[in-house]
Amino acid sequence: CAGLFDTGSLAGKRVVITAGPTREALDPVRYISNHSSGKMGYALAEAAREAGATTVLISGPTHLPSPERVTLLPVVSAEEMYAASLQALPDCDVFIATAAVADYRPDQAAAQKIKKGERDTLVIELVKNPDIVAAMAAHTPKPFTVGFAAETERVIDYARDKLERKQLDLVVANDVSRSDIGFNSDENAVTLVWPQREENLSRRSKHQLARDLVERIARQLA
Ligand code: CTP
Ligand code: CA
Repeated sequence: CAGLFDTGSLAGKRVVITAGPTREALDPVRYISNHSSGKMGYALAEAAREAGATTVLISGPTHLPSPERVTLLPVVSAEEMYAASLQALPDCDVFIATAAVADYRPDQAAAQKIKKGERDTLVIELVKNPDIVAAMAAHTPKPFTVGFAAETERVIDYARDKLERKQLDLVVANDVSRSDIGFNSDENAVTLVWPQREENLSRRSKHQLARDLVERIARQLA
């Protein structure tokens, strides 16, 4: 648990982080997912832990090792991530949503493997997944809630729209149309979209970015 003896900037605080992709089952052997590596969320979990916080990492499937002294809650689907987030919410001071949550899931996963048969087309009906970060931000008492926005155009506009629509305290926006950094890279450059201003953080490693984000969040809590 968060050490009584921790003296970091988040000592005594409880931080919950979502990370990685989700997988939405089509049938017992197939799923819909995305290319999220989970690196940013895992780096943030390490940085929060180093800053003295009790840290819970709710992670979809990744290839990353579990960070030390962090409680890792593995999940697969968006609905599982939502349930785990609700459970982790009591006493949560900071909620950071880095997960690339599938926006939609197949209405019902087929009980048996879907057979190709004679058909040339296949239509699968998708239903919307719950918005996890918006639900956490709507909770009373409200944790300091941080979202991530990966955009390919109008990056700041869309990020600010998410800040307002989901009632977030901070959105970390990045331009994924740049092929050199971002989604699967070890580095990133972002713009922090705060309610009243914007702040550019130039290109740096995800580990450094995580430490810089944690310091800014800690300053807001203080
Ligand atoms: N998010 C979430 N639950 C969802 C969808 C998104 O918690 N079902 C969170 C992400 O973890 C991220 C933020 O919301 O922190 C923004 O995610 P993004 O996919 O950019 O936003 P959406 O609202 O899904 O909008 P769109 O995909 O249309 O851009
Ligand atoms: Ca989305």
